[in-house]
Amino acid sequence: MKYPNIIAIDGPAASGKTTIANQLAEKWGYLFFDTGVMYRAVTWLALHKNILTKDEALVTDLADRIKIDVAPPSKDDGREYDVIADGIDVTWKIRKNKVDSQVSRVSAYPGVRKALTKQQRRIGLVGKVIMVGRDIGTVVLPEADLKIYLDASVEERANRRYKQRVDRGEDVELRKVLKKLKKRDNIDSTREVAPLRAAEDAVLINTDDLSIAEVVSKIENIALSMMKE
Ligand code: DC
Repeated sequence: MKYPNIIAIDGPAASGKTTIANQLAEKWGYLFFDTGVMYRAVTWLALHKNILTKDEALVTDLADRIKIDVAPPSKDDGREYDVIADGIDVTWKIRKNKVDSQVSRVSAYPGVRKALTKQQRRIGLVGKVIMVGRDIGTVVLPEADLKIYLDASVEERANRRYKQRVDRGEDVELRKVLKKLKKRDNIDSTREVAPLRAAEDAVLINTDDLSIAEVVSKIENIALSMMKE
């Protein structure tokens, strides 16, 4: 008996994917991989190099060359892992507002997706992995053994994101967080290549009224029932 080998967790921004996948991966001894950090790292690098994110050709070129490493946390500053882009620690830099507001545009570029999807598949196919994103079950790892689609109302997700930011000491307004989330949802789900959507064989979980622990245990139960089949 063993847990499903490759697990895909998709869903909109702030649906709880990262926290939940991270906890499951720790419990099971699996690799947790958050593909959003790759799109964020490319966006950060473009901004860092003063490349306009509307310049699709230059941004795509960056995505082709960038070296992104995700490693165990090297500092005790609330991070769950280190994100290193071309040798620079960008763990917190990729969470800044500027990246948030540009990342959906960058992740809609087909060439960027092609480059990053290739790297993600390579990592995912090694197995014993929980991979998180928008298109993992549909495009990156359609062969995943278990696909979960996490959802929550945009208001609930805005509340969660707002609290995270306040806890980090940032000066934010709930109204603005909500507006930005709606904008990102729209771009992520209407783009032509690999839009945000649940795979046909995904298990849908609405997390509006569920705690993190409840969602984790729901997924564990699904995995256990698969082991009995
Ligand atoms: O999950 P996140 O908020 O860190 O993701 C940042 C952006 O990256 C998100 O707006 C959409 C994009 N993304 C994507 O298009 N495909 C993925 N597999 C993961 C993220």
